[in-house]
Amino acid sequence: MKITLSAIKADVGAIAGHNAPSIALVEAIANHVKNNAARLLIDYRISTTGDDTAMLMTHTHGVNSPDIHRLAFDALMKGTEVAKDQGLYGAGQDLLKTSFSGNVKGMGPGSCEMEFEERESEPFVFFACDKTDPGAFNYPLFRSFADPFHNAGLLLAPHMGKGFEFTVMDVNYTKGDRVIKLNTPENIYDLAVLLRDQERYVVESISSRSTGEITAVVSTSRLHNISGKYSGKDDPVCLVRTQKDFPATGEVVSPYATAHYVLGGCRGSHILALMPVKQGETISFFDGPAIVTGAGYSMRGGKFTEPVDLFAQPFWDTVRTKAAQKSLAMREQGFFGAAMAPMMELEYTGVVDRIKELDKHFKIREK
Ligand code: F6R
Ligand code: MG
Ligand code: MG
Repeated sequence: MKITLSAIKADVGAIAGHNAPSIALVEAIANHVKNNAARLLIDYRISTTGDDTAMLMTHTHGVNSPDIHRLAFDALMKGTEVAKDQGLYGAGQDLLKTSFSGNVKGMGPGSCEMEFEERESEPFVFFACDKTDPGAFNYPLFRSFADPFHNAGLLLAPHMGKGFEFTVMDVNYTKGDRVIKLNTPENIYDLAVLLRDQERYVVESISSRSTGEITAVVSTSRLHNISGKYSGKDDPVCLVRTQKDFPATGEVVSPYATAHYVLGGCRGSHILALMPVKQGETISFFDGPAIVTGAGYSMRGGKFTEPVDLFAQPFWDTVRTKAAQKSLAMREQGFFGAAMAPMMELEYTGVVDRIKELDKHFKIREK
């Protein structure tokens, strides 16, 4: 049976700044999805990560279905109404455009979707980040799907040995989708030089080279490309089908133990360590730290089991402590050097006007 798995999310307002949506806001989104589920969906789950609310849905309408995207968009509009009523901060902030035109892409909400022939057992993980951008997934996806030192499964499992096809998007290009396809293992260095630049080149999807089956998708929208100014972080989502011909769930979650540095935190302009947290976790330190949740599911006929909260397990307590220590170490040097975003990212902030003004006062000293 061909199933489409869609994740659509947005921040449409939060309590106390950018910390968490209210219960009423999430209920408004959930109620709208519930009221339309019988018409359009096989199953759905609503979850939150920091100030973002995500709708995870199964259906048979394929990717980029206007009906599914409208359902999600209207649900976010309902959430926005509640956010306004309650005086939540940033009400409707991710709905950069409000008249729906067939797809949430380019309107503000993040989305990632894949259509596939459901396996007898269909394990997958739904990752959601807050206070960072889609490049946050470059490191863990590279390590799970391309790095045998991290994932010896690439050497041990016969079907994975043929490698994977990565589709990478240049997210700075705004006139359309500028993408490149690279095969591992032979193009691994080419892939590495792109993925190291995680603000510009972002993994969009990954497919198995032995079966052609899709295994991973990431939401790639950059809000500043839509609005032309800093409009909050993109707070990406990612779906990964696991096991058998794909990396094991454990091989997909283990790279998060690095607590790798990502761009995010206050004003989306600082480098902090990505902290793996439990579902529904909120935001605190320095409008952060950047967080990631991981919900593991199985499904049959598009019907979900309850989620396993993968980062709630005690192992991750140690990683959380490490992530906090790494973030504190970076914060000690304030705005200097590596602690702040690269200039290209700051171009969407007030820094650029100040530098422009100062530029007029620079003088070339006579010898
Ligand atoms: C939210 C974010 C926050 C805000 C900060 C200032 O995604 O990045 O750190 O940038 O709280 O927000 P304003 O300018 O709305 O007061
Ligand atoms: Mg926000
Ligand atoms: Mg957010």
